[in-house]
Amino acid sequence: MKIAVVGTGYVGLVTGTCFAETGNTVTCIDIDQNKVNKLKSGKVTIYEPGLEQLFERNIKQERLSFTTKLSEGIKDAKVIFLALPTPPGEDGAADLKYVLKVADDLGPLLEDYTVIVDESTVPVGTADKVRQRIAAKAKVEFDVVSNPEFLREGVAVDDFMKPERVVIGTTSTKARKLMETLYAPYVRQGNPLVFMDERSAELTKYAANSFLATKISFMNEIANLCELVGADVDAVRKGIGTDSRIGKRFLFPGIGYGGSCFPKDVQALAKSAADAQYEFKILKAVMDVNTTQKTKLIDRIKKYFGGSLKGKTIAVWGLSFKPHTDDIREAPALYNIEEFLKEGAIVKAHDPEAMENVKQLFDSKISYFDSAYDAAEGADAIFIATEWPEFRTPDFEKLTSLVKARVIFDGRNVYELDVMKEQGFTYFSIGREVVNG
Ligand code: UDX
Repeated sequence: MKIAVVGTGYVGLVTGTCFAETGNTVTCIDIDQNKVNKLKSGKVTIYEPGLEQLFERNIKQERLSFTTKLSEGIKDAKVIFLALPTPPGEDGAADLKYVLKVADDLGPLLEDYTVIVDESTVPVGTADKVRQRIAAKAKVEFDVVSNPEFLREGVAVDDFMKPERVVIGTTSTKARKLMETLYAPYVRQGNPLVFMDERSAELTKYAANSFLATKISFMNEIANLCELVGADVDAVRKGIGTDSRIGKRFLFPGIGYGGSCFPKDVQALAKSAADAQYEFKILKAVMDVNTTQKTKLIDRIKKYFGGSLKGKTIAVWGLSFKPHTDDIREAPALYNIEEFLKEGAIVKAHDPEAMENVKQLFDSKISYFDSAYDAAEGADAIFIATEWPEFRTPDFEKLTSLVKARVIFDGRNVYELDVMKEQGFTYFSIGREVVNG
């Protein structure tokens, strides 16, 4: 099938590449000439495990191409995916300007029956808006489908190739058939294509992300309580997670959720509810907890150093919002670095993938190191913001010889308490006993 994908961000690029992988011919369209030039020259513009190999293979097989021209890119496409940004506006609602602009442009360009798919996370009613915009200028029949993606960064390729489910919102039989054909290779193991109306599909995406964010904020509150009453959140997590109604996943406490989805989507759902005259009380709590949780360790660190961080060297391990990505959008690490700098501390940072992105933000205000050990050299404390696997089993002897003091503030509960006791580190984590404090 000939497919077009408008927008080559994390979602668009993964979508385009993965659709090409099963034999479709895909053209990806982006207004950013620089990005398109890079992609055309065979360079992947994001870090996403497994993507590069698929990307190269499909370019070579001429199933994947790139252009800045919408008219050229959508020529003969049966399905056009809109994978455009929907950033939060000032009031927290998703800003639809990119989506609606492309809808306006698409109308006069359609030459035959086409399915236009909203893949971006968009408020309920967006499919109707896109339909109206296109209809205003289209001369041919078309359908607008809501097909929200559930890709997790870091495992997006796997999530796309073997989704747990694909949600497709459409009431058109013709569009449904086309989407069934398109997704058939991806759900061969028997995972479902879940069909529903457009509005329900749009809300499903917000409900999924907000529910997961709620799980995290709930566990963060349990962790905070554990600290006050002398319980261990790891034990509580295991104790509740074995109940299949609760589930083991997404119960890990830490310094809050970040990324391009959860913070924005929880806020947008709360705003959508408010617009519908409904106060979604839980979401406000979810956001409040996350805001305080992000910099929760700062007070502890200050207290540890007698109230001031002036002149203290902090090694920050991990900058991305989670492991296996270079994405730093809403990364808790950034909020903490800002606090460290405000308090007069010296920050030495290391991240396996995200340093280039962080340099653009903090420039020379902090220093960057290619290895976690180099960042730790001479540090008064190590602060762990992201649980990259390489931090899990460091050579503690080597680390001891490098740091000024054996102190770790761990925002992701990377280490077992016994290991820290054994290694003689003073160790603060989330929802657990302080070791050698
Ligand atoms: C998320 C959704 O999982 C995905 O389905 C959706 O389409 C996009 O948003 P992503 O943003 O890539 O994906 O990250 P995810 O792995 O879900 O983690 C989000 C945040 O929650 C991270 O900051 C992570 O550190 C945090 N988190 C996750 C926790 O703090 N505890 C957990 O137990 C799980």
